[in-house]
Amino acid sequence: MTKSLIIGACGQIGSELTLELRKQRGTESVVATDIREGSSALMNSGIFEILDVMDKTAVINCVEKHEITEVYLMAAMLSATAEKYPKKAWDLNMTSLSHILDLAHDGLISKIFWPSSIAVFGPTTPKKNTPQVTIMEPTSVYGITKLAGERWCDYYYHNHNIDVRSIRYPGLISWKTDPGGGTTDYAVEIYHKALTNGHYNCFLKEDTELPMMYMNDAIKATIAIMEADFSDITVWASYNLGGVSFNPQEIAVTIQKHIPGFSIDYQPDFRQKIADSWPNSIDDQVAFDDWGWQHEFDLDAITKDMLLNLKIKKGIS
Ligand code: SER
Repeated sequence: MTKSLIIGACGQIGSELTLELRKQRGTESVVATDIREGSSALMNSGIFEILDVMDKTAVINCVEKHEITEVYLMAAMLSATAEKYPKKAWDLNMTSLSHILDLAHDGLISKIFWPSSIAVFGPTTPKKNTPQVTIMEPTSVYGITKLAGERWCDYYYHNHNIDVRSIRYPGLISWKTDPGGGTTDYAVEIYHKALTNGHYNCFLKEDTELPMMYMNDAIKATIAIMEADFSDITVWASYNLGGVSFNPQEIAVTIQKHIPGFSIDYQPDFRQKIADSWPNSIDDQVAFDDWGWQHEFDLDAITKDMLLNLKIKKGIS
């Protein structure tokens, strides 16, 4: 039986992944862990333990205690925070991966999911429809950690036959759990502010186009790649994943269709430089060819769903 350990289960992706895996595979088969407690939905829907991924002995104990077969390593420091704490970001993002790769190498687990990001690309990468294989010279600390991580995943597959699967997530938009410390987080904040203030001060310029994805699609992709036949996986670093590409002005226009008085200002800060180094759009043909990946939500559908669910969550009628 597959028994999954989610590390970083209270984060933006981890929280929804935990709930979806519990729904699909049964409560007993998913152990959620994080360094802090999460939402009541997460805490009350199955096993939860406090676990610091930097404490390797604690991770091993948890894996042995629950007879874990696969690990989803969702704990990481994102791009904006990583620029402020470069050494901490390197330590967390690299040491955590190294611990989990070691577990697989030592035969304690048989499969790993590790998230990469569009941040692996840099200013010298072709910006439009960025191919799966291309120039990668990331200039953000976060991007450096993700590219290094990808090389480790590929290395462990080729040298130790470790089944480690990965996706280069675009910016992720969700309403259940807030993101923290990312450059693409503006595309979540904007919906919150539209509903509570009718106005948003955007920290990116109006024409900053980035690849984005709705969380429903991201969770679907995560489960799909983990359930794909081993023989269908041809990329052992990380798969490009597209979604929708848009800029702050375009997202504002879709919000105005629902909230006509909504207004937006642009006050770019240090995150502009990070965003400018990333692609505008992503070519994910290889993920489609290998494991049938296709996204569902376009910008209009994302906006409709975000506003609907955030209204309910905030008690706005
Ligand atoms: N969404 C992430 C960030 O902005 C990129 O993977 O840091």
